[in-house]
Amino acid sequence: MNGISRPPIVLRATDLRKAFVRDRLVCRDTSLDVGAGEIVVILGESGSGKSTLLRCLGGQIEPDSGVVEIQNESGILQPMWTLEEHERARLLRSQVGFIQQRPQDGLRMNITVGANIVETLAVLGLRDFTTMRQSAKNAIESVELDVARIDDFPASFSGGMQQRLQIARSLVKRPKLLLMDEPTGGLDVSVQARILDLLRKLVRNLKVAVLLVTHDLGVARMLADRIIVLKSGAIVEDGIADQILDDPHHPYTQLLVSSVLRA
Ligand SMILES: Nc1ncnc2c1ncn2[C@@H]1O[C@H](COP(=O)(O)OP(=O)(O)OP(=O)(O)O)[C@@H](O)[C@H]1O
Ligand SMILES: [Mg+2]
Repeated sequence: MNGISRPPIVLRATDLRKAFVRDRLVCRDTSLDVGAGEIVVILGESGSGKSTLLRCLGGQIEPDSGVVEIQNESGILQPMWTLEEHERARLLRSQVGFIQQRPQDGLRMNITVGANIVETLAVLGLRDFTTMRQSAKNAIESVELDVARIDDFPASFSGGMQQRLQIARSLVKRPKLLLMDEPTGGLDVSVQARILDLLRKLVRNLKVAVLLVTHDLGVARMLADRIIVLKSGAIVEDGIADQILDDPHHPYTQLLVSSVLRA
């Protein structure tokens, strides 16, 4: 692309289609890829199919057709939807983190913060509690929260803090890919900016590939290396963030960027 060598592909989707109601496609022949360490933002107005696409990529909704490949432990792209269910679960558990818009959907609210993080490591097969507890402390510090609160319950944290906890819980397992659906959607602008800033630092350090969906142009501006614009379930533009934001080609993107449309 533009003569620049691309990093290895961590996620690749080819010709995905999904309709919930016969003939009403919510995902239309969608193809995309995300390279190691890349931050790709999918931008589109409400109802354009962003969450549906992300769920097809993250293993929650099976597409009607098309292929989703995710890099496995050995660095090989593995078609996810043709795997046996337990193999798919294993691939997703070990390689993919998913950050939900609502922290309560991504955290277990009835166990402590420490237990939330230790649990993700235990599921990966780690057994040494002292090591897992130390990893949990490191993860809490990495999202700039007070490690002394490790035994508190998530409900005692603010919305922004809970979102940090969700990030800590996802990143502690060092996934290759992080999928995020409007991760700062419910937060006020200054809290949002701090979280996006933190996210950018963390994913750069860990070289995680990120695919984030949002209807918020400001989020795309803050984070994206690449932007994919989705309209009625179809990709209308895919390019380097600065180009999309400063010189959009598709009329729909021009409207989005000029804020004529409510993104
Ligand atoms: N489980 C479902 N059953 C039926 N229709 C669905 C389902 N999930 C989504 N849809 C429909 O698919 C379309 C796209 O929805 P989706 O949630 O993917 O959009 P979105 O871009 O994430 O919107 P928003 O920005 O509001 O979150 C909508 O018309 C929605 O009603
Ligand atoms: Mg959505």
